[in-house]
Amino acid sequence: MMEKGNKSLGSLTGLDKKYLYVQTIGCQMNVHDSEQIVALMEKEGYVCTKNVNQADLIILNTCSIREKAAQKVNSQLGRFRRLKEKNENLIIGVGGCLAQQMGERLITKVPDLDLVFGTHNIHQLPELIVEIERTGRKIVETTVHESTQSIGLLALPPIGRVTAFVTIMQGCNNFCAYCVVPYLRGREESRDIDDILHEISNLSDQGVKEITLLGQNVNSYARKRSGESGFVDLLHEIEKIEGIERIRFTTSHPKDISESLIASFAEMKKLCKHIHLPVQSGSDRILALMNRGYTRSEYLAKIEKLRKSCPDISITSDVIVGFPGETDGDFQETIDMMNEIRFDSLFSFKYSEREGTAALNMSGKVTEPLKLERLRVLQSLQEEHTLEKNRAMVGRQEKILVEGLSKNCREDVMGRTSTNKIVNFGGSIELVGEIVPVFIKEAYLHSLRGEML
Ligand code: 5AD
Ligand code: SF4
Repeated sequence: MMEKGNKSLGSLTGLDKKYLYVQTIGCQMNVHDSEQIVALMEKEGYVCTKNVNQADLIILNTCSIREKAAQKVNSQLGRFRRLKEKNENLIIGVGGCLAQQMGERLITKVPDLDLVFGTHNIHQLPELIVEIERTGRKIVETTVHESTQSIGLLALPPIGRVTAFVTIMQGCNNFCAYCVVPYLRGREESRDIDDILHEISNLSDQGVKEITLLGQNVNSYARKRSGESGFVDLLHEIEKIEGIERIRFTTSHPKDISESLIASFAEMKKLCKHIHLPVQSGSDRILALMNRGYTRSEYLAKIEKLRKSCPDISITSDVIVGFPGETDGDFQETIDMMNEIRFDSLFSFKYSEREGTAALNMSGKVTEPLKLERLRVLQSLQEEHTLEKNRAMVGRQEKILVEGLSKNCREDVMGRTSTNKIVNFGGSIELVGEIVPVFIKEAYLHSLRGEML
């Protein structure tokens, strides 16, 4: 703990409403963590606000997986700090990966911060806030807890939601050469199966119809000494839970995806026909430097098996361009592989150096302009493929789980296909939570348009 100027005790002990503003930067994991933060603090009497100027407590939930996210965190913190000039009782906390990574250094860098908490400390948030109010001290709490107590705290989706995330494991043992996750989220740790099933039953009782299982590498869930994972067993148990209609999961590691999981796409009724399978590169040389543990042909063989098991499956992926040593030839191999596979959609990133990772000391750095150029080429090719895949849906009848009203038109509802494509169609709010048959009429880059049958 570090000393700071005395803060009046009035702000959080009074009877007046206390407002919480949470901002999330980063991945689904962070979105889920933020939902947990909101649920925890609402239990303590906080009310969520979208107006940062109104906030008594600001929590910035950060990601540091790529440099761009880290830069965004810095600019947001600069903005929030200025609010302290107007409200001296304002508490500003930073959580998530960047907080885990920087710890006390973050407070030294941003002196107006009150709290830095790590990826394993979310459950401690209420007591940490009370401690700050009581003592006026700054707190840095980034202890990594070995127990699973810190994950899957609450089974509380935002009210009225039909989809929810459920964390099944934390951490990662893979140490890909570019990645900070194993350092920041720690080693793989699976949650107890009974806890997970209990949480999902609760979610179902609250009206949730679709769950997405979260973990850095869900295929390693409950890995036994024999090397076999308990992930498919978990899926089968979840399938038995009444009320849950759809099961999704993310993220899978290509080296760990098993024959039994591939077969599950054909066998399990509730398992959605979509897999996110990050490939990162199409060049064997780069894959080896990245320490990914598979070759291009092994990856292609898994795709072939998936499509054989489930011909309609949609496949999405992640690619990094400009990893150290990536030549024009290596990049061309990625492009060739994309043309061969034709992903439904792709997240692509410029390689960014991350502290503590093996790639930091690798030679053959790629210049920024070249990375940008490769990204542009790759993204425009992917747009063609995404459109091609979406257009192939036109004329088909799809089952859509309705999630809510459409963003742009209040007379439309939006939902997703089993293959995770967004569909908008005419309908009213009563449809939310229903799975309805929809005829697909038009295809765009980011969504489809349909008509309910
Ligand atoms: N630079 C660029 N992209 C990265 N990713 C992870 N670390 C880095 C990095 N240092 C990407 C990978 C991963 C996704 C979540 O983020 O593609 O699959
Ligand atoms: Fe990072 Fe690799 Fe683990 Fe994914 S599998 S979280 S990229 S180390």
